[in-house]
Order: sequence, then C-alpha cells, then structure tokens
Amino acid sequence: MAKKKTLFECQACGFQSPRWMGKCTSCNQWDTMVELTSEQIKFLKETTPTATVTQKATPITKIEEDNITRFTSGSSELDLVLGGGIVPGSLTLIGGSPGIGKSTLLLKIAGNLAKNSHKILYVSGEESAGQIKLRANRLDANHDNLYLLSEINLSSIQQEINSSEYNFIVIDSIQTLYSDETPSAPGSVTQVRTITFELMRIAKSMHIPIFIIGHITKDGSIAGPRVLEHMVDTVLYFEGDSNSELRLLRGFKNRFGSTNEVGIFEMNAKGLQDATNMAGKFFNKDKLQSGSALTVIMEGSRPIIIEVQALVSESYGHPKRSSTGFDNNRLTMLLALLEKKLDLPLGTYDVFINVSGGIKINEPSADLAIIAAILSSYRDRELSAKSVFLGEVSLTGEIREVSSLSQRLKEIQTQGFEKAVIPNKPIENVTKIKCFIADEVSKIVDWM
Ligand SMILES: Nc1ncnc2c1ncn2[C@@H]1O[C@H](COP(=O)(O)OP(=O)(O)O)[C@@H](O)[C@H]1O
Ligand SMILES: [Mg+2]
Repeated sequence: MAKKKTLFECQACGFQSPRWMGKCTSCNQWDTMVELTSEQIKFLKETTPTATVTQKATPITKIEEDNITRFTSGSSELDLVLGGGIVPGSLTLIGGSPGIGKSTLLLKIAGNLAKNSHKILYVSGEESAGQIKLRANRLDANHDNLYLLSEINLSSIQQEINSSEYNFIVIDSIQTLYSDETPSAPGSVTQVRTITFELMRIAKSMHIPIFIIGHITKDGSIAGPRVLEHMVDTVLYFEGDSNSELRLLRGFKNRFGSTNEVGIFEMNAKGLQDATNMAGKFFNKDKLQSGSALTVIMEGSRPIIIEVQALVSESYGHPKRSSTGFDNNRLTMLLALLEKKLDLPLGTYDVFINVSGGIKINEPSADLAIIAAILSSYRDRELSAKSVFLGEVSLTGEIREVSSLSQRLKEIQTQGFEKAVIPNKPIENVTKIKCFIADEVSKIVDWM
C-alpha cells in the first residue's frame, strides 16, 4: 500500500514541512504547524506555477520595455510612497494594525479616483455597504462611479469584476475572503495565498490596479500579510500610534519604484489627510521638559525634526531598559558607553526611551540626541528648546558623521532653531545656526 503523504504548514509564515514540529523552524513561532488535508495538498500542486516551455528566451536588447503610465491617487503622500502614482495592473498590499486607518485611507482614495472619472469597486468583507456609506459621507467620498460590494466569497467577487469595466479595486480585507476551492478557514495561510494568487491573475490579465488590505498585529506576526509579501508587487505598511493623529505609510517592497519614501498622514474627522507642514508636528516648539531632546531624522528625502524622551529613575531590583521607537540593543550599548566614558552609575537606574508621534527611528543619527535626553533626565535639567543633536555614536565613544547633514541643518534653520551639536563642520553654509562640534561622547557634556 502506498504511504499516505502528509504535509504540515505554518499558519504564521506559510513554511511547509513533511513532519509536524512544535516550533516552526522558519519563523520560530510555537504551535503554528497545521496538517493540510489531501484536498489542500492536491490544490497546492495544481496552483503552484511550474515553468512550461512555450516561449523561447530572447536577447535583452530585442525586448521592448514596458511602458508604465502611472495615474495619480489624488493624495500626494500616497503617490510619493508608490513611486509616483498608481501603476495599472499592479497588486499592492496595505498592512497595519486594526484601527490604524487602512479602510479610511483606501475609501478616500477610491472617492478621489471616482471623482476623476475612474470606475471603482470597493469590496468589503468586514463592513456592510451601509456602514461604508456612513464613512464615505464623513470622508466626502460619495460618487456615482464608486461601487460597493459587501461580499466574502471570491467567485462572487470575480463575477462582479468580470461584469463591468472597473479601473481600480479595493479588497478590504484579505483575511475575510474565502475561496470555495480550498477547504480551509478564511484568514488561513492557504486561503490567503490562493486568493492573492487569483487577485494577481485578475490584476495582470485585466490590467486593473488592485489594493489589498491586510491586518497585522503589532509584532507583524499574524497569518496572511507576511505570506503575501513575496507575491504582490508593492507592500506598504502603516506605522504610528493609533492614539496620536499622525500615521506613516512606509514602503517595504516596490517593483515599480524605490522604498525610501514615507507618506505622512493626519487623522481627523474628515479621514486621513495628507499631512501638510510636517515641521512642528513631532515636537513641542516652545519648551522642553527635562529628559527631552530634539534631533532631525531623514524620512526618505525629507528631514523631520522629532523629539526623543528619556526617563532615568532609580531602580529597585534588576534595572529595566525599555524603548519605544528606538532599538533596544542600541540603547543598551549607549548606556554602557555612558557608564564607561562619563562614569555615570546607570547600572542602578531604570531607563525608558520614547520617540514622539509613534515614529520608529531606523537610522543611527539619533544616537547623540538619545544620549542628551538620558543625561538631561539623569540630571533633571532641561535642554534648550532651540537646539538639536545629531550624530552616530560608535562603540569607542567617537561620534560619527551623519548623512545629509546640510539638508538636516537647513531644515532646523528654516524652523528657527539656533544651535546644533554635530560631529563635523557642515560643508554648506548655514549661517543662522551656531554649530558645536562634538566628535566624542564626553564632549557632549560641554554643550548641554
Ligand atoms: N467619526 C470619526 N471621526 C474621526 N475619526 C474617526 C471616526 N470614526 C473612526 N475614526 C478613526 O478611524 C480609525 C479607524 O480606521 P479604519 O480605517 O477603520 O481602520 P482599519 O481599517 O485600519 O482597521 C479609528 O481608529 C478612529 O480613530
Ligand atoms: Mg478596516
């Protein structure tokens, strides 16, 4: 008798293995391996694309390049992250934690496009058409060209797509849809993969841009979006704290443009609007409390002034180190450096770091500001609200240059700052700013 084939699949990352495992070896999550049924295995085999030799290879010089004609989404921030606008026939995933504003943004975009004489289909598996209509009223997104479909069955959605000539489709959300062809539950890795595969086919064959919404939890662990990342053309993730009104939309993958740019939006009663005049949104203009320091980070091509906060308080027991928006390992390194170079007894203190506005710092240029904030909190002495700190700190305590220094300094000059503590002299003249050179961590004390 032939041995029965078994296949297990991780519900978090989609990794497959012939044996069951308590912990997935690919994503290290516990208890996520689920055995696939024989129908599921058969289906996987049928839908996995295999190369068929129907085309001959062509010399690259003989190939005509695709002509990409993008169109605007009506939001300059979204256009920026997409690399200049929406590409027809592309499949885009917008991920983010629940309540961050995915539906709000895409309904607004759908409304913008409808007003620009595109025909839009907004498919929702989460809300009734009436609920969406309510939101559309609030967002001013009502238009005859915007069609709503409250449906979770993929083949019904396909029928609707085939029945009319839509120019733009929104799927809200991928986790709620199901396909009859696979027996697993909506939101499972198999379902999500099957549906995305089908949506990709529709986007490419009918030349319609499709935006998929996917929920992820704070640590990005839930099934779905992570599995789709490699299947779709573009992946954008929302960042930001749902308590603050600022939201960042960051590109993680883009087959049609760079992933450097970040879109910045503001949530208000009229929905997610493009944030205008970003300066001043991420820091307090007039006064800093002790434990706060300012720095400038580059988000794509834009410099943004942000506030970093530190709380250093006496520890009872094992000292805690915890940071939000800043790398924890880097914090530990900076604290060790302060102990060694400045003789601060931080081993008996708890240290907490927070970055304002839900921003996550991805570059080392903020090191110096973090150190300034820690020192300010430790001494309980506030820093001047007119100065900023810029510099990467190395393990030896040396402060290294930061990229785009002139651009950052120009921004703080425009915003009326007076003083900057930086590692090296700027090449370009920024006359209104007094620059203090701190090339070593011990020197920062002189300038505080
Ligand atoms: N009437 C309203 N006025 C202002 N903001 C609202 C209103 N209703 C909802 N919101 C905001 O919109 C957010 C919900 O966004 P939504 O697009 O539904 O999130 P997602 O689709 O990402 O789960 C809520 O967190 C809330 O802050
Ligand atoms: Mg939603």
